[in-house]
Amino acid sequence: MKITCIGTGFVGVVTTAVLAKLGNEVVGLDIDENKIAKLKEGIVPFFEPGLSELLIETQKSGNLTFTTDYSVAVPGSDVVMIMVGTPSAPDGSADLRFVESVAKSIAPHLMDNAVVVVKSTVPPGTNKHVREIISAICDKTFHMASVPEFLKEGTAVEDTLHPDRVVIGVENDFAKEVLTKLHAPLTKNILVMNPESAQMTKYAANNYLATRITFINQIADLCEYNGADIEEVIKGIGADRRIGPQYWYPGLGYGGSCFPKDVKEMAAYAKKVGENNSLFITIDDLNEKRIEKKFAVYSQEIGTFKDKTVAVLGLSFKKNTNDTRVAPSLAVIPWLLGQGATVRTTDPQAIEEAKALLPDSVVYTSTAYEAANGADVLILLVEWDDYIGLDFAKLESVMKQNPVFIDTRNQYAPNQVEPYGFKYLGVGR
Ligand SMILES: NC(=O)c1ccc[n+]([C@@H]2O[C@H](COP(=O)([O-])OP(=O)(O)OC[C@H]3O[C@@H](n4cnc5c(N)ncnc54)[C@H](O)[C@@H]3O)[C@@H](O)[C@H]2O)c1
Repeated sequence: MKITCIGTGFVGVVTTAVLAKLGNEVVGLDIDENKIAKLKEGIVPFFEPGLSELLIETQKSGNLTFTTDYSVAVPGSDVVMIMVGTPSAPDGSADLRFVESVAKSIAPHLMDNAVVVVKSTVPPGTNKHVREIISAICDKTFHMASVPEFLKEGTAVEDTLHPDRVVIGVENDFAKEVLTKLHAPLTKNILVMNPESAQMTKYAANNYLATRITFINQIADLCEYNGADIEEVIKGIGADRRIGPQYWYPGLGYGGSCFPKDVKEMAAYAKKVGENNSLFITIDDLNEKRIEKKFAVYSQEIGTFKDKTVAVLGLSFKKNTNDTRVAPSLAVIPWLLGQGATVRTTDPQAIEEAKALLPDSVVYTSTAYEAANGADVLILLVEWDDYIGLDFAKLESVMKQNPVFIDTRNQYAPNQVEPYGFKYLGVGR
């Protein structure tokens, strides 16, 4: 099949490479000339484990090419997939400007019976809007569909090659057959539904996961009043098969390129249709206030951050990515500086990305031990592999007296660090 993927960001590069690996003829298109120039050279413009190898392999096979030219990419394509960004507008709703712009750009070049897939995360009803934009320009028969993306940064290649499920939203059997055939090599679990259900599935999945994080944070906060340990509570509730042991992350709330915006977009959608008491409005609000709330507690516990040197470990929004979109570091570090602290920090992959977004006074180092050198407080923000087996004796030897360890990911038990003279502050314990 000939497939054009529009938007070669995180989702786009992974999708193009995986579809090309399946033997399709794939063209990746982006308006960002620098990005396309890098991709043509086999360079992934961001950090994602295993992606570089797959990109080079599929380019060498001749199945994958890149361009910035719609008139080169779209003509003759059986499937045109839109996977550009859909950030939140100031009112929280999905900003569909990029999707609309793509619809206008592909319209003159579609072949008869092309299937136009919206892969970007968009509110239900968007396919009708995109159809109208294309129809105003294009007199060919085309089929609108929705195939939402569920990959996770950090494990995106594996997630795309072996998805839990593929959700296909279609309006007719033609699109159903084309898209089922395309995704059949990836999984037996293909769920076909209408586009609105597919789009709601994507929002529901991310809003549920964000709610789970917010829920366990609410329980964690209550644990701090009574001597309960959230990690023990998680074991206790996780043993219930209706609840399950996975995906419990007490901490500073959710971040990244998807959850914050997808919750805001669900909340805005709820308001738009008159559901003003929506749970998602509250989830968004709790998450927005989470970091400041937690750090006010930490500040009280240690007295003050004023004139303290603080070492921060982890700048990306989670481990195994250099994506800093809505990363906790971008809220925590400015907050610490605002309290009068000096900040030293490190990250295995995201220093350059964070540097562009943080104040110049922040000091960057290569290792956790360098960051901790002369620090009063050590804060674990992201549980990169480099930071889960820290040598606390060594840390204690380079830090000031009476060091504090703030473990925002509950990666260590208090008794792993307290014997080395650290005061331990976690979440919900
Ligand atoms: N990143 C994730 O983990 C993830 C996971 C699931 C779903 N999604 C969804 O997938 C979509 C894409 O996310 P992303 O993280 O890959 O975004 P991204 O910002 O990394 O990439 C978007 C790309 O689209 C390009 N673009 C913008 N306008 C264009 C146009 N008119 N023509 C061609 N290219 C254009 C940009 O230059 C950019 O390279 C979003 O809707 C997002 O919510 C993302």
